[in-house]
Amino acid sequence: MAKIIAGIGTSHTPAIGAAVDNGKTAEPYWAPLFKGYEPSKKWIADVKPDVVIMVYNDHVNAFDFKIIPTFALGCADEFTIADEGWGARPVPVVKGYPEFASHLVQSLVLDEFDMTIINEMQVDHGLTVPLTLMYGSPKEWPVRVIPLAVNVIQYPAPTGHRCYNLGKAIKKAVDSWDEDLNVVIFGTGGMSHQIQGKRAGLINKDFDTRFLDNLTRDPEALVKIQPLEYLRDAGNEAIELVMWLVMRGALGEGAKEVYRFYHVPASSTGVGNIIIETKAFHESRKGKSAA
Ligand code: DHB
Ligand code: FE
Repeated sequence: MAKIIAGIGTSHTPAIGAAVDNGKTAEPYWAPLFKGYEPSKKWIADVKPDVVIMVYNDHVNAFDFKIIPTFALGCADEFTIADEGWGARPVPVVKGYPEFASHLVQSLVLDEFDMTIINEMQVDHGLTVPLTLMYGSPKEWPVRVIPLAVNVIQYPAPTGHRCYNLGKAIKKAVDSWDEDLNVVIFGTGGMSHQIQGKRAGLINKDFDTRFLDNLTRDPEALVKIQPLEYLRDAGNEAIELVMWLVMRGALGEGAKEVYRFYHVPASSTGVGNIIIETKAFHESRKGKSAA
């Protein structure tokens, strides 16, 4: 049976991808950030998930303002890399898993989450930067990736509560796929940031810390934060954090935080990274290390 074993929260700041692509990771500005991701890279290299469900947002690259799906699931065989204005990032094509993704769509729609089906799509920094942060720069990505795109670009964005419930439905959908697969779900974007207007550069460390604290211990408190509160308290683009709540909803009760990192500055973003293991996976890992 397929199962979700853990969730990863990470920012997707495009300048991080550019730092890797242009060989700047050892520069003083970037070195502390990449150092902070080392334990996460080690974790995923140890765990080697078979499939990643990447909850991310497109930034007007795959979709334009003609059509903006609220929730859309990538069912294609592969996803090529978008040119965001300075050439496509030099990273491998992202391999999907059409059969499993189609099952997820079927289960989610029957569960009353009306997913848009995507059979062809390019992916932007929202998806590729988290892969780079976790996997580095391999020739091929060592995992199949199912993109789940959430609209946080144009209001109305979905509420955190809706996203959390979508996560619960994703867990149910994964659990009902009859193939032994270890699945890790990513919630990406955030944390506090505003990249335009009078408040450009706004970071709210207290907001971000509270969000990270509550993600494991009290997600029910976080789902009450309304879209406009993200904007007011943590900047226009902090609404991306609702995608972390999809991830959290898919982990169930008793999940355990095993790593956390927070860093400012990185472009305009309060960069956060967290790894949360499901109760069952955490206990099996502890059992193995004790044996
Ligand atoms: C930045 C962050 C984002 O999430 C994004 O999509 C674009 C830019 C930034 O911090 O510069
Ligand atoms: Fe973004």
